[in-house]
Amino acid sequence: MLSPTKLISLTLVLLASTASAAKSDLCSHFTVISHRGFSGRAPEESKLAYLLAADLHTDYLEMDIQRTKDGVLIANHDNTFARTTNIAQVYPTRVNDQISTFTWDEISKLETGIWFNTKFPPFASPKILGSAILKLEDVVRVSLTHPNHPGLYIESKSPELYPGIEKEIVDLLEKTNAFKKVKVIFQSFDSGSLEKFKELRPEIPRVYLTEESWQKLQKNELNTAIKVGNGIGPDFKTVPPSELSSFLHQAHASKQMVHFWTVDDLETMNILIQAKADGAFTNRTDLLLEACKRMNENDIESAIAKRLK
Ligand code: G3P
Ligand code: CA
Repeated sequence: MLSPTKLISLTLVLLASTASAAKSDLCSHFTVISHRGFSGRAPEESKLAYLLAADLHTDYLEMDIQRTKDGVLIANHDNTFARTTNIAQVYPTRVNDQISTFTWDEISKLETGIWFNTKFPPFASPKILGSAILKLEDVVRVSLTHPNHPGLYIESKSPELYPGIEKEIVDLLEKTNAFKKVKVIFQSFDSGSLEKFKELRPEIPRVYLTEESWQKLQKNELNTAIKVGNGIGPDFKTVPPSELSSFLHQAHASKQMVHFWTVDDLETMNILIQAKADGAFTNRTDLLLEACKRMNENDIESAIAKRLK
């Protein structure tokens, strides 16, 4: 028999866990996509950024895939290495040269940790120094070997520069058995690229990215997404708050999921979760997991410390 005090405590605990479960339920539909890995705490598209995101049980590791001069698929957002690497020191005459003019061997000499530590002093760490550009196969390896097996959310970046890249991506995922072992989504701003993925592996979901205005988004862009894939990825800033629910309703009625990019503030995260968007790309994997009540701040910080301290 429980004492009245214990009974009250137990009731409070149960109420708290019910509230938490309700919030988790509210978020059960919502996909957390770690944009360039947990890029708020480690250099974008680095091994550390992907490992940290995986440690935190993210749903997907997001990456931008391009191709080197000698045909290696690499993860890098920009078309050059000027912004995020020490290329000015390593290849001073080639700072603004396109990725496709570098061999893998040349790229492997670049470093991204100095840039991160300088740009984000609060999160600088000696463990971040020495971060390197990754091959696609390196990111796939994180997904396959990490115990949490995050999915792979793969963008064909500037595919017009890399004819045939869709087949090369698919071939690598087949060779590594990634399609059988983890969730995969293809994404692109280029609808033609998504059509190529559709021809190669029609069963793998495809999300059409767009940065078009609200007027174009709800008409042409949604129609394009419907034609080439299973979802649309708009810049969240293009959807007026008053139109969010009806846009989601329109997309869902057309069997399209909606993954917004790139959402780094808690207020917008909560709005999207409550409006029943399907997910968001974020540089702040930590904040989105907190918003979803999937992890608390202490657990997040201790997971980060395990890798970085
Ligand atoms: O891929 C989703 C989002 O990342 C689109 O923007 O420019 O960061 O690739 P971007
Ligand atoms: Ca991207």
